[in-house]
Amino acid sequence: MRRGLIAIGAAFAMVPAAFAQAPIVIKFSHVVANDTPKGKAAEFFAKRAAELTKGRVKVEVYPNSQLYKDKEEMEALQLGSVQMLAPSLSKFAPLGVKEFEVFDLPFIFDDYNDLHKVTGGPVGAKLLKKLESRGITGLAYWDNGFKVMSANKPLKAVADYKGLKMRIQSSKVLDAQMRALGALPQVLPFSDTYQALQTGVVDGTENPPSNLYTQKMHEVQRHVSVTNHGYLGYAVVVNKKFWDGLPGAVRNALIKAMGEATKVANDTAFNDNQDALAKVKASGKTTVYVPTIGERFQLKKALVPVHKQLASRVGDETIQDIYNATGFKLDSL
Ligand code: LMR
Repeated sequence: MRRGLIAIGAAFAMVPAAFAQAPIVIKFSHVVANDTPKGKAAEFFAKRAAELTKGRVKVEVYPNSQLYKDKEEMEALQLGSVQMLAPSLSKFAPLGVKEFEVFDLPFIFDDYNDLHKVTGGPVGAKLLKKLESRGITGLAYWDNGFKVMSANKPLKAVADYKGLKMRIQSSKVLDAQMRALGALPQVLPFSDTYQALQTGVVDGTENPPSNLYTQKMHEVQRHVSVTNHGYLGYAVVVNKKFWDGLPGAVRNALIKAMGEATKVANDTAFNDNQDALAKVKASGKTTVYVPTIGERFQLKKALVPVHKQLASRVGDETIQDIYNATGFKLDSL
């Protein structure tokens, strides 16, 4: 009897301890390879989250659309099947937050400097706030980079794009951009792009070099043109209910881990894209063409009208806010 009581007592004594040790699991799903700025930053975040919470939080990273493809991952976040994502800024409109497509406007940022004036300032913060009403909390912007165009024919003059079927992300701005070049945009999930290029479902696409290289798209694209015509980056987002329900100390530790991970993403982005481009070149499978200033200016002239054309969708005010933050000039390069 006594032994029984001791055993019961011991069992009860163990319950709170076992309970306290059960980690809070954060499933972090994304669609790119581990060896990309986003992939590396996600892994770093997982490591720091575990360290700073002393194992209280376990971040499970699922790369390469292993868990969900583009559209599914947004739904999964809202349903709470995953807790964290870092979709590209082009993928938020289906949630009803069309303003994020402003980042897709061609030639709106000259370089990372311009971009950081927006993502690191009040305009960026205001945009993240808009996600709250969709049950999503925006934690950070993570860089990837400026996009190159690719196809199986050389892309030098604007006329070279005419009639090409080009894979795009699901953004109306990107749709208008490709149409302004006379190309035929086709929305496809990132995970389907390689095969679509390989089988000729589409002729070409646009990507930061890190995405092109890590998905081996250069193996099925003979020509790359370093147009740097637009930017692709991410917003790291969490399910708001999950986030608000975390103990304050855990949330604070995660905010710290996210701050450090953001630095990792942004510090690696530029170099990763440079390296990827060099590797594409070295592969010998693809020519890498750098347009002349004149060619790039013609491209800008053809594409900047998309800003006005899409102003009613992304918000004239948002565009003006960005112009003001960056000092946008139509005729500079
Ligand atoms: C794409 O679909 O091309 C990108 O959004 C993929 C990514 O997450 O970088």
